[in-house]
Amino acid sequence: MLNFSRFRRAPLLSAILALVANATRNDVQVLVLGGGVAGVIAARSLHQQGINDFKIIEARDELGGRMHSFTFGAPGNQVVLELGCNWIQGTQEGDGPANPILTLAQKHNLSAVPSDYYGSMTTFDYTGQVDYLDVFNSAIDAYTNLTVLAGARVSNSQVDTTARTGYSLIGAKPKTPQEKAAEYYQFDWEYAQTPEESSLIASSWGNNFTYDTDDGGFSADNLMSIDQRGFKHLIQAEAAEFLTPEQVVLNATVKSIKYSNSGVAVTLVNGTTVTADYVITTFSLGVLQNDDVEFDPPLPDWKVEAVQSMTMATYTKIFLQFPHDFWFDTQFALYADKERGRYPVWQGMDLEGFLPGSGVVFVTVTGDYSERIEALEDSQVQDEVVGVLQAMYPNITIPAPTAFHFPRWFSDPLYRGSYSNWPSSFFVGHHTNLRATVKERLWFTGEAMSEKYFGFLHGAYFEGEATGNSVAQCIKNNGCAGLSHTDQIRNAGPYDL
Ligand SMILES: Cc1cc2nc3c(=O)[nH]c(=O)nc-3n(C[C@H](O)[C@H](O)[C@H](O)COP(=O)(O)OP(=O)(O)OC[C@H]3O[C@@H](n4cnc5c(N)ncnc54)[C@H](O)[C@@H]3O)c2cc1C
Ligand SMILES: *[C@@H]1O[C@H](CO)[C@@H](O)[C@H](O)[C@H]1NC(C)=O
Ligand SMILES: *[C@@H]1O[C@H](CO)[C@@H](O)[C@H](O)[C@H]1NC(C)=O
Ligand SMILES: *[C@@H]1O[C@H](CO)[C@@H](O)[C@H](O)[C@H]1NC(C)=O
Ligand SMILES: *[C@@H]1O[C@H](CO)[C@@H](O)[C@H](O)[C@H]1NC(C)=O
Ligand SMILES: *[C@@H]1O[C@H](CO)[C@@H](O)[C@H](O)[C@H]1NC(C)=O
Ligand SMILES: *[C@@H]1O[C@H](CO)[C@@H](O)[C@H](O)[C@H]1NC(C)=O
Repeated sequence: MLNFSRFRRAPLLSAILALVANATRNDVQVLVLGGGVAGVIAARSLHQQGINDFKIIEARDELGGRMHSFTFGAPGNQVVLELGCNWIQGTQEGDGPANPILTLAQKHNLSAVPSDYYGSMTTFDYTGQVDYLDVFNSAIDAYTNLTVLAGARVSNSQVDTTARTGYSLIGAKPKTPQEKAAEYYQFDWEYAQTPEESSLIASSWGNNFTYDTDDGGFSADNLMSIDQRGFKHLIQAEAAEFLTPEQVVLNATVKSIKYSNSGVAVTLVNGTTVTADYVITTFSLGVLQNDDVEFDPPLPDWKVEAVQSMTMATYTKIFLQFPHDFWFDTQFALYADKERGRYPVWQGMDLEGFLPGSGVVFVTVTGDYSERIEALEDSQVQDEVVGVLQAMYPNITIPAPTAFHFPRWFSDPLYRGSYSNWPSSFFVGHHTNLRATVKERLWFTGEAMSEKYFGFLHGAYFEGEATGNSVAQCIKNNGCAGLSHTDQIRNAGPYDL
């Protein structure tokens, strides 16, 4: 059994409280389910508010969640790379607001370098290296114009549309493989879904709140972790500052959550049940959507509709190592295939300032293409990727990779995708309901619950912080109603803050 020794009140007071409540004592005050950024920061908020009677329950064997590094490469030439998040997106300008992930990175001395998304690019298509930087730059302008259109629609209280409709309204209609690849780099590579699948307003707002200092954003910069302790070091080091070993239960997968107005009982796959006054779930949107964790009673209709109306997207990095570096010497390369989204964005790590000598290059795919390759054998994906490199370098015989790997985020029952994306059919009321508390005891937090920063690390951070503080207040006030919901969503307006 778990050793859930609980902080005790004075025995007499305790007995009186128990009589008043007419209930048996729960094992702990709060269970935090999931030990990613949201879970660790929620726990830190509880701790800062003087609530230490909690436990984090995490399925994996370490904290970090989607901050997930791995060791890659042939024996004798291995490097630590990131399967999940890799960038601090938006940093800080002057003494403006700082991305809290940047603050953690500085505090824990993370090794990270600026990525030049727009100024260090080589362009290719299926015939080899071809300069279409003019097309590339025009797609950057089109994207800016898209966010301006979105802002104007908000000012006019006009309804949301898809980002594809938005692109069409500003006259950006990519037709050639090069134009489509350039648009992909601006849009899909960030949202991990197509413009058709994404909200015009929410995508633009998401961009501005992170990158545009005029809109309260941090900065336009992206810092890439190359820390050989892994990007996760920053959250693990932060956790080590306040968590005791008893407060963290690793290798423990939650199977079901039974809840009522008086408390919760969480059952692990090994059959152990833990009870608590409150539970904070940090499961990814994909986990909630796919019934990987069972709720008893089933979640109310308004919660189910909210969960199913947001989208879990997938972003997949495919890593290759070669005996030597034969590719572009810019940070990025764009490959325009006849099929949009086929192995489009390439990054070389074998660069001064990054991981020189590593022989590593990787390519990213997203959305449906990620789902497609997850269903293939590794060897099939490797053959396709090497085939694309061969098309990019027709005059070189591409050597056999010395190492190859990609993660299957979409199939992983602990994630079911990489991060959330806001579709045009997701309304502000849905968003309220996604975050809302169920039966005063069941709280939802994590990246997908962030209105301004869904999809980002800092979204997970801010949500975890807010939820931890709310639950602490609730405990101090001997209960609370929690975040309210709307029974039925009737408004189709754009989301307002
Ligand atoms: C490939 C990829 C690239 C990304 N790139 C970036 C980037 O560059 N910059 C950026 O800001 N963001 C990026 N993100 C998004 C960022 O990683 C997430 O927003 C953030 O890590 C989410 O944190 P979280 O705490 O909300 O969720 P999670 O990290 O998913 O935490 C939830 C935890 O719950 C655990 N769990 C799940 N099911 C169970 C269960 N049944 N029982 C017990 N535990 C369970 C999981 O193991 C996990 O640890 C990326 C994500 C991915 C996957
Ligand atoms: C189940 O896992 C928990 C958490 O690791 C552990 O404390 C408990 O002893 C396990 N129970 C059984 C029956 O194995
Ligand atoms: C978790 O499981 C892994 C692998 O199964 C094991 O190596 C590790 O010691 C376990 N950790 C804990 C804290 O139980
Ligand atoms: C911080 O990291 C750098 C290298 O990345 C190292 O030289 C330095 O000693 C580190 N400082 C501390 C305080 O750990
Ligand atoms: C963006 O808008 C500006 C100003 O209206 C216009 O001149 C430019 O052609 C537009 N660019 C694209 C690519 O849509
Ligand atoms: C995004 O920022 C641009 C440029 O600052 C601004 O014109 C636009 O209105 C903003 N869009 C939204 C949706 O806030
Ligand atoms: C490949 O070789 C052909 C013939 O020598 C040459 O015309 C062409 O420019 C080369 N292509 C590249 C990408 O180097």
